[in-house]
Formats: sequence, structure tokens, C-alpha cells
Amino acid sequence: MTMRSISVRSAAGSYTVLCAPGLLKHAAAKIAALDPFTGVYLLTSPRVARHWGVALKQYLRGTDLRATISFDDREAVKNLDTVERITRQLVRAGADRRCLLVAVGGGVVGDVSGFVAASYLRGVALVHVPTTLVAQVDSAIGGKTGVNLPEGKNLVGAFYSPRLVLADPNTLATLPNREYRSGIYEVVKYGVIANVPLFRYLETHMEQVVARDAAALAYVIPLCARDKARVVGRDERESDLREILNFGHTFAHALETATEYRVYLHGEAVGWGMIAASMLAARLGMFPVEQALRVEELVHSVGRLPPMPRTSAARLIAIMGSDKKTRGGKLRFVLPRKIGKAETVSDVPVEIVAGVLNDLRASR
Ligand SMILES: NC(=O)c1ccc[n+]([C@@H]2O[C@H](COP(=O)([O-])OP(=O)(O)OC[C@H]3O[C@@H](n4cnc5c(N)ncnc54)[C@H](O)[C@@H]3O)[C@@H](O)[C@H]2O)c1
Ligand SMILES: [Zn+2]
Repeated sequence: MTMRSISVRSAAGSYTVLCAPGLLKHAAAKIAALDPFTGVYLLTSPRVARHWGVALKQYLRGTDLRATISFDDREAVKNLDTVERITRQLVRAGADRRCLLVAVGGGVVGDVSGFVAASYLRGVALVHVPTTLVAQVDSAIGGKTGVNLPEGKNLVGAFYSPRLVLADPNTLATLPNREYRSGIYEVVKYGVIANVPLFRYLETHMEQVVARDAAALAYVIPLCARDKARVVGRDERESDLREILNFGHTFAHALETATEYRVYLHGEAVGWGMIAASMLAARLGMFPVEQALRVEELVHSVGRLPPMPRTSAARLIAIMGSDKKTRGGKLRFVLPRKIGKAETVSDVPVEIVAGVLNDLRASR
């Protein structure tokens, strides 16, 4: 087992992301190497537990596993009710200040559990065991936790660092195909914004990545995790550098909102968003056209995207105008300068954005 170890700096001290196929077999030993805890509480969802519950209990043998708390991880119930239910179960299970929560699942389980860990008894120890591609390359790293309100996504939360992240690519084997592919778009994102070797690798090995080839995953996941760690390590609280992680996301958010989250998985919307942002950057003359075409081709090599919506460019732009990433009412985007480098650009003329959207709709 070649194990990659990535250190993440945070205001609350640093922590390690470990990544290796088969790593979870050593979960008990990795946890034992932290602090002594008064009890270990497993937080997961019924769906994740269906695939990994039996194995997990075996991997955690040797730790003082006291209870498993399973909660629905649909985005629709990523809310404060769920947080309340979990924390009440923790009280009843006797979890005290020195307990450890082990969150096993995708980004929803991680975000909810992270917020629970941040707030239960004003903070208890947390280990993330991400089991989706998105969680392994993105959500388990960087300390953002939180839940949704009816008024919007992730509106209540906290920055809270885990003690350790255990990313085992083998857990991705049971992900539904569309879910898995949707995560690949976030991998492509790191290539465009920060990582030329990753981008090139994806251009030549997309088939293996799509097929979940073990060697491909063992290469790709730590590269992304390192990029995320690097960005959030310098800039834990959102400001200019962390903003590049939003590449493709302003467009994606507009597509998701316009279609009421019913048409695209998040990553798929990001796929369109990265194409749109690349085209936009090319039109603004800041990104070579030939590189924009490479981004487009790489995105399409992941698989078939649900088509662009019929929604008018004006409506999409109106949604972007109310996006939290705009400042002072001007359209603001993260755009590539070249493959491997992105930056924030404000004051982008609305007509140019409309032109890009109209072209994209006409082409698909
Ligand atoms: N905190 C952050 O920095 C950050 C970053 C990106 C996304 N997010 C959040 O993450 C969430 C999305 O996370 P996600 O993409 O991981 O999706 P998810 O957590 O919704 O999981 C997708 C589905 O896959 C299932 N699943 C998880 N692991 C599985 C496995 N190994 N085998 C089979 N099924 C499995 C889940 O039960 C769920 O039904 C969103 O709520 C988003 O806001 C947070
Ligand atoms: Zn995203």
C-alpha cells in the first residue's frame, strides 16, 4: 500500500489527510494514534451503511466504538432538525467532551457531522472518512461544515477542522455511476485552476478514471487533495485565494437554480460551468482559445452531460447577479488565465456573458 499523506494547515492547528486504497483496514490503528477518547461514535447514513457498515465495524474493532448513529443524507434533510436529532442521540448514548465522532459518507454526512462536532458540547473530536469522490477531493478538506435553511444552501455552519481524514478510494466502488462521474468534474476543476500535470493526465487517462481504475484513482485523488489543502491552508476563511475553488460554480449555480436542482447533479452543472467560464475567458482575451477548447473536450470526455436548459441567458444572468460571489452588483467570475492558473475577474460585461450562454445553448 503506497500511502499519501497530506498536511492541511488551519487556524486550529494542522491535520493530516491520508489516502490509499485499502487504508480503512488500518482505521483503528490510525485512530488509536491520535488521543485517547472516552468513546467512538460512528455517524453515517443508511445508504452508506448498507454498503460499508459491516466492514466498518470490523475496521473499527480495537477502538472503543460505543454507538452508530445513522441519519438520512439526502440534501433535502441536510438541516438543523437532523443536527438536533443526532446531538440528542449523542447525549443519550453518553458521548462526553472527550469522545470522537467518525463521519463516514459523502459531503452531506461530512458537512452535517462536521457541524455536529463543532457544536456538540462546544466541540468534540472528529475524523472524516469520505466515501464519495467529491468528499475525498473536496468537502472533507478545508474545515467548512454546515447545513441548509429553507432560504438557501449551507447558510448555517462553522469552520471546524477534523483531527484526521481517511480517504480510501476503494470505497468509491459502490457509488452509483452517475454520482461517481459527477465527482470527476470537480477533479477536472483542480486541473484547470491549479494543476497542469493533473490536467494532462486526465487528457490521456480519462477512460481509466471513469472506469475507477485503482492506479488512476490512487494517482488522481491525492493530487486533488493536495491542491485543496494548499489553497485552504493559505486561506482558510473565504477570501481571494479560496475563491478560485469556485471555478465553474457561478454558472453551475445558475443552472441548478434555473432547473430547481432537478436536472443536473452538482458536478454536471460544474462541467457546463467550466466550459462556460473557459469560453468567457477566451472571449475576454485572457485565455487562449485553444486551451478553452481543451477544457471543453476534457469535460465532454467524462460522459454525456444533461443538455443546457432552455432558460434564457437573461434569466441565468439575473440568477448570477444574486449569487453570493458577486460583489457590489457586478458580475464576478473565476476565470482561467492558462491551464493550471485561475483568478477572479470582476466587472465582466453582461453582454459577453450572454453571448457565451447563447452559443452554448445553440451548440447542444
Ligand atoms: N464542506 C465543503 O467544503 C463542501 C465542498 C463541496 C461540497 N460540499 C457539500 O457536499 C454535499 C455533496 O456531497 P457528495 O457529492 O459527496 O454527495 P452526497 O453526500 O449527497 O452523496 C451522494 C450519494 O451517494 C451515497 N453514497 C455516499 N458514499 C457512498 C458509497 N461509497 N457507495 C454508495 N453510495 C454512497 C450517499 O448516500 C448519497 O445518496 C453537498 O451538500 C455540498 O454542499 C461541501
Ligand atoms: Zn462543487
